[in-house]
Amino acid sequence: MRTLQDDTLRFLREGYTFISARCDELETDLFTTRLGLRRVTCVRGAEAARMFYDGGDITRAGAVPSTTQHLLQDVGSVQGLEGEAHRTRKALFLSVLGPDQQARLAEILGREWNRSWQRAGESVVRLEDVMARILTRTACSWAGVPSGMVDAPVLTDQLRSMVDHAGSFGPAGWAARVRRRSAEAWAESVIEHHRALGPVPDEHTALGGLLRHRDADGSALSARVAAVELLNVLRPLVAVTRFVLFAQVALARAPQWRERIAEGPSEDVVGFAQEVRRFFPFFPAVPGRVSSPFRWEGHDFLAGERVVLDLYGTDHDARIWDSPESFRPERFRDWEWERHPYSLVPQGAGDVRTGHRCPGEWATLTVLRETVRRLSRENFDLPAQDLTIPLDRMPTRPRSGVLVRRRENGA
Ligand code: HEM
Repeated sequence: MRTLQDDTLRFLREGYTFISARCDELETDLFTTRLGLRRVTCVRGAEAARMFYDGGDITRAGAVPSTTQHLLQDVGSVQGLEGEAHRTRKALFLSVLGPDQQARLAEILGREWNRSWQRAGESVVRLEDVMARILTRTACSWAGVPSGMVDAPVLTDQLRSMVDHAGSFGPAGWAARVRRRSAEAWAESVIEHHRALGPVPDEHTALGGLLRHRDADGSALSARVAAVELLNVLRPLVAVTRFVLFAQVALARAPQWRERIAEGPSEDVVGFAQEVRRFFPFFPAVPGRVSSPFRWEGHDFLAGERVVLDLYGTDHDARIWDSPESFRPERFRDWEWERHPYSLVPQGAGDVRTGHRCPGEWATLTVLRETVRRLSRENFDLPAQDLTIPLDRMPTRPRSGVLVRRRENGA
């Protein structure tokens, strides 16, 4: 048998573009290689996304390196479940994060935005820091966590570091895991406090839903699992900060969109937000493992085989997207995402109710819509800075964290 090439160094060097570059070289949507000494089959494109998300033969169990898993989803969370257990838990996420909860999210975010910027005055601030704090407060309030139980600067720091260091090994990763443990202990105390003393928040909030939830086997969630799931709402909402930074970079690069969005129809801002999610790099790929053998594109997938779906490459696939390397929000005019479940995949693909597609897409779009509108209407200057976005760092961000100066006559 031929020895497999080891692509670890190339993957670290090329980052987000590695899978699609190799696919292009080999003229295929599938190749098997070694990454970090492990045999992995990489796939990309809309048909690969269909196979990965809705084929029924790929599981998340044992797919994510444990260092990353502890920082992102963690043991016992919805992402580690399959079948009926997954569907029942996922229904909870869909009810507390779904379309009916978006007006409340927009209202809370507007309030927190005004409160934060009133303090910023005319000084130069890092949008990354301001936005992460706004979103931590917003997320807690939206989730039903009483403000008296939230030390916002500490929690912001903990939630940010989980995402920033999801790909880190060594001391940076260890420090992030220590912060993760502290955040879990805090979330567990929030659950236990409400169980012991009440009152139970509204059922439409994440905390209220988690406290009432019954799993498929009829059991309530343990305090530990409920805490993990509460963090699964707070952490990713704060992570939307990255998309907000990318949106500000896009507004700076294409100032004509600034005016268009400030006064234009709401479909322009939605198209802009969708293009930010498609164009900019967030999670490069998702890992899975084969649960039962199958054949696809001439390849025999064996039970236990590691498979990685290229999200970034699929979002930049020229067979799906015309001029994929151009930032063109107008491509989303009249675009209905229900009709394209495998094309726009920054947050996963397929049926959100039955598969592992992200239940936070509505919330991500709400945050982007609300902030992009405000960023284009308010009077922000961008001082000289390095806005480049390195593709060999995962997850990446604009190098400067986006410095902004808000002028006195800003709204
Ligand atoms: C799942 C990305 C925002 C909660 C996922 C998945 C991706 C993703 C790629 C699929 C993982 C897989 O297939 O194994 C993102 C990105 C976001 C974001 C890039 C932008 C910041 C959110 C938000 C929330 C959220 C705002 C909640 C408020 C979740 C949960 C899952 C998930 C709970 C697991 C779903 C399941 O296993 O069924 N996300 N997400 N995400 N996301 Fe997000």
